[in-house]
Amino acid sequence: MAGMKGIILSGGSGTRLYPMTRAANKQLLPVYNKPMVYYPLTTLMLAGCRDILLIVNPGDAEAYRRLFGDGRQWGIEIGYEPQPKPGGIAEAFLIGRRFIGDSRVGLILGDNLFYGDSLPAVAERGAQGNGAVVYAYWVADPSAYGVVEFDAEGRALSIVEKPKQPKSNWAVTGLYFYDSDVCDVAGQIPRSARGELEISDINAHYLKEGRLTVEKLGRGYAWLDTGTPSSLLRAAQFVETVEDRQGLQIGSPEEIAWRKGYIDDNAFERLIQPIRESEYGKYLQRLLARG
Ligand code: G1P
Repeated sequence: MAGMKGIILSGGSGTRLYPMTRAANKQLLPVYNKPMVYYPLTTLMLAGCRDILLIVNPGDAEAYRRLFGDGRQWGIEIGYEPQPKPGGIAEAFLIGRRFIGDSRVGLILGDNLFYGDSLPAVAERGAQGNGAVVYAYWVADPSAYGVVEFDAEGRALSIVEKPKQPKSNWAVTGLYFYDSDVCDVAGQIPRSARGELEISDINAHYLKEGRLTVEKLGRGYAWLDTGTPSSLLRAAQFVETVEDRQGLQIGSPEEIAWRKGYIDDNAFERLIQPIRESEYGKYLQRLLARG
């Protein structure tokens, strides 16, 4: 969809992963063979976002620039805005207000890893939908998340952030799409008890206005957590297992840019040359050779 914007929230202190996060930002840590942030970036690319803003800690902007540059090598645009201190997910819409303008916007958390056959179609539907579109995923312990309650017809009834007594097992994932009104909504909601602008309050606002769609991601999807050392390891093992079995990689921006026709064979080849000795470079070479 023309004009579709995307934001990746990639700041935070990653305290649960200390000391891994002492010198490196959490979303720059590897999930198997790629930096964590590659996975949400490619999810946005699959949704059709080509104009992307990364919100990062002020001290990490340089590292992210080294990783992504301005995005043109992949036929997209990547810009950067600092988040001075963690103030909640919904702060992205205050920091990104000028970037969003009057466009529809997708927001993804820099540590969220999605996998599933129909993910591109599902994400595109969110990108092209109306109002707010969010995704719910069945988890064993929903109390760590925003939780949706559904009625018998599958309509969302409520969304509550980290409830002590969850009304369902449906957690709200870290991928969201909104119309440009979201910036005004973010300006209206009060800060929560933990001093943050909660994304669940934004979603509850759209729900109250009857402008929220909650799409369920069924059992054929993986939505993985990377917040603790063991969940990070499990995410890496998941990626390794699937990639090794198929010989196809999850979350490669070069591959997606090339398959979507954002870059041609020559530009693809130029990206591969300097990294051709790496496993990753060899993988991309095989793709190009196969055509
Ligand atoms: C945040 C949101 C929560 C959502 C979760 C998804 O939680 O507040 O609604 O379910 O991301 O990862 P937090 O990262 O603040 O614990």
